[in-house]
Amino acid sequence: MLAKSYPYYLANKPVKAKAKLDVTDKYTGKVATRVALPDAEALEQAIAAATAAAPAMKRFKPYERQAVLEHCVKRFRERQDELAYALCVEAGKPIKDATGEVTRLIETFKIAAEEAVRLNGETINLEISQRSAGYYGYTRRVPLGPVSFITPFNFPLNLVAHKVAPAIAAGCPFVLKPAERTPLGALIIGEILAETNLPKGAFSVLPMEGRDAEALVTDPRLKLLSFTGGLIGWDLKAKAGHKKVTLELGGNAACIIDADQGPHLDAVVDRLVFGAFYQSGQSCISVQRILVHDDVYDALRRKLVAKVKTLKAGDPKKKNTFLGPMIDEAAATRLEGWVAEAKKAGAKVLCGGNRKGAMLEATLLENVPHDAKLQRMEAFGPVALLQRFMTFDEAIGIVNDSDFGLQAGVFTDNIRHAMRAWDDLEQGGVIVNDVPSFRVDNMPYGGAKSSGIGREGVRYAIEDMTDLRLMVIRDA
Ligand code: SIN
Repeated sequence: MLAKSYPYYLANKPVKAKAKLDVTDKYTGKVATRVALPDAEALEQAIAAATAAAPAMKRFKPYERQAVLEHCVKRFRERQDELAYALCVEAGKPIKDATGEVTRLIETFKIAAEEAVRLNGETINLEISQRSAGYYGYTRRVPLGPVSFITPFNFPLNLVAHKVAPAIAAGCPFVLKPAERTPLGALIIGEILAETNLPKGAFSVLPMEGRDAEALVTDPRLKLLSFTGGLIGWDLKAKAGHKKVTLELGGNAACIIDADQGPHLDAVVDRLVFGAFYQSGQSCISVQRILVHDDVYDALRRKLVAKVKTLKAGDPKKKNTFLGPMIDEAAATRLEGWVAEAKKAGAKVLCGGNRKGAMLEATLLENVPHDAKLQRMEAFGPVALLQRFMTFDEAIGIVNDSDFGLQAGVFTDNIRHAMRAWDDLEQGGVIVNDVPSFRVDNMPYGGAKSSGIGREGVRYAIEDMTDLRLMVIRDA
């Protein structure tokens, strides 16, 4: 289902280059296909084209932007098996999760198609005193201009969609650099966008190494950088000059299981298994720290360990595979090292812990010391730790004792605890009665503390990609 090679997209047009980037099948390690590799000149041309396209994109009407997004929805539906297969190969994502991601891609573009014709402003009553009698205020949103996007390997379609679809809805030309290990999803999106009547130069998709794409961060012609990835995002922000910067940088998500959850433990365990281990834990909101009240700790641990041991690991192309490889052997070795470090410092491995190549077993630990990497940093793999707490206050304190704050989950029947969590957890989002890994694509999504700045979730991204412009009229 994969083409032999893929072009990159420069100013809406496919380009076949001599230089190529290998895309490997992350399960077999074999080269699955190759993509054209843009050079520095192509990057400059893409930024220049996006800059030149800004006036035309601004004039491109909301209903025209909507039509482009609707075309994408239609074509994604027609090509969904191919898209899911590409994800499965390039990211090693189990086919079940890959198919789910295509569904979300379609939803994200559908939401953007709706938002494209909802870019409203407001009327402001300026007559607050005699001084402004006869003055009327109105606002509307205007596109920022050319913008740049850098996306990660873990959701090669939907995290691209969360930047590209709002940009089209907002009227911003863009240059996108997808993750070099997983460029296929973005390139197929590029192929479909090239079928539309987007203004000339409105988009480029350049699958290149981050170190070669520095201009996307530093070039002053670009008015916004939206980056999803690791903590390096903060360094990019420091180099970004006057442009706006949106960062989504992950976390070490916690999930609290309250004292009253005894009757629901089977359902809680099902969700924890999903939250901690789907797509091998390679999600910024994967469950990493499971905080369990003393009253239910032993029962939950028993059920959770038993369930995790049943997870089917192996070839992501098989329908019944739950756990595929991590993105590469280096990532799996790094995390295996973190497990070894925690063990050496006194942690107990409850299940898993072994690695073969890029395949790391679904791993649960307890008694992980406070300063171990598994407590402090983002694991970004199939490893979670269990921790006991005695009071809800203590649990809130443990969740907040982290540099990160993207999303947290709280299983509780106690409305006061739910409200307390919403008030006091230093997070972008609090998910009550589910895992932090829950996300629907129209909700505001982004982090507090080191987890990032700004919000995605189509409407919120559109706000970032547009400026509020005021007009005042005097009734002279
Ligand atoms: C992420 O890893 O930040 C994205 C999670 C999601 O969209 O479900």
